[in-house]
Amino acid sequence: MAAKHFLTLCDLSSAELKGVIDHAITLKAELREGQMNTQFKNKVLGMIFEKSSTRTRVSFEAGMTQLGGSAIFLSPRDTQLGRGEPVEDSARVLSRMVDMIMIRTFDHSTIERFAEYSQVPVINALTDSFHPCQLLADVQTYVEHRGQPQGKTVAWIGDGNNMCHSYINAAKQWDFQLNISCPQGFEPDEGLIKANKDRVNLCASPVDAARDADWIATDVWASMGQEEEQAERIRHFANYQVDHELMSHAHSDAIFMHCLPAHRGEEVSTALIEDAEKSVVWDEAENRLHAQKALMLFLAEAGE
Ligand code: CP
Ligand code: NVA
Repeated sequence: MAAKHFLTLCDLSSAELKGVIDHAITLKAELREGQMNTQFKNKVLGMIFEKSSTRTRVSFEAGMTQLGGSAIFLSPRDTQLGRGEPVEDSARVLSRMVDMIMIRTFDHSTIERFAEYSQVPVINALTDSFHPCQLLADVQTYVEHRGQPQGKTVAWIGDGNNMCHSYINAAKQWDFQLNISCPQGFEPDEGLIKANKDRVNLCASPVDAARDADWIATDVWASMGQEEEQAERIRHFANYQVDHELMSHAHSDAIFMHCLPAHRGEEVSTALIEDAEKSVVWDEAENRLHAQKALMLFLAEAGE
């Protein structure tokens, strides 16, 4: 049977995604009670990181250890990938040695090429285009705090980046309305918006997007690989900070999410991110661990 990959949220059905979230919530409760699920005994996850990471690396590595397996951190600095060994060759070699592979890279086409040649499941741990693992954690967090996102209104404020693209896919998969407000020239992919036009609205201002929202999310203004644009982006995004004033246009029980790392005073105010009533960013970060454990268990079974 061909390996089941997770390159975007669209690789799983809506029902499968819901199953992963439910399992993540169960695994979290079991871990709290000291119950260990060691289904991955002797299994190995390869982790290829071409960009920096704190949450993704630690959550995958800790998750594999908790499931009884182990993880190998691979960076281009000390593998042949960094010296130009073709992705297709690396995929064929690594997938004969490990049971699952997680990749954080630049071009989305790199992970697609890798997956095409891999015998084992490949997980997108962030590309320039998508960050689906983060959305599993975000949805889990919403479910835990407020219930199912179906029929709710989510506002995305800021850059039309990899996170925004995954929010668009999430709107389709979990059937919520997504209001997006980005500065001109920083909108998400046009094709993705068109394909989801029944669920996605491009709004004229952050206030328009935030109005009557149940959940507001943002991300850094300059993503990894865009460091040189940081100063210019600060000028374009100056009116796109999520703060208490913007949240006041949303429903009174709306919650705030950010995938982290955050730049306080830029895309989010210090007061909002630290407001434990509205900001759920620490639960959101923790849920990377639980959601990815559930994802890995799902992919392992789907490929059996
Ligand atoms: N949110 C997220 O993916 O964080 P890291 O870059 O620290 O992995
Ligand atoms: N958009 C950000 C997300 C970091 C987790 C980036 O790509 O750098």
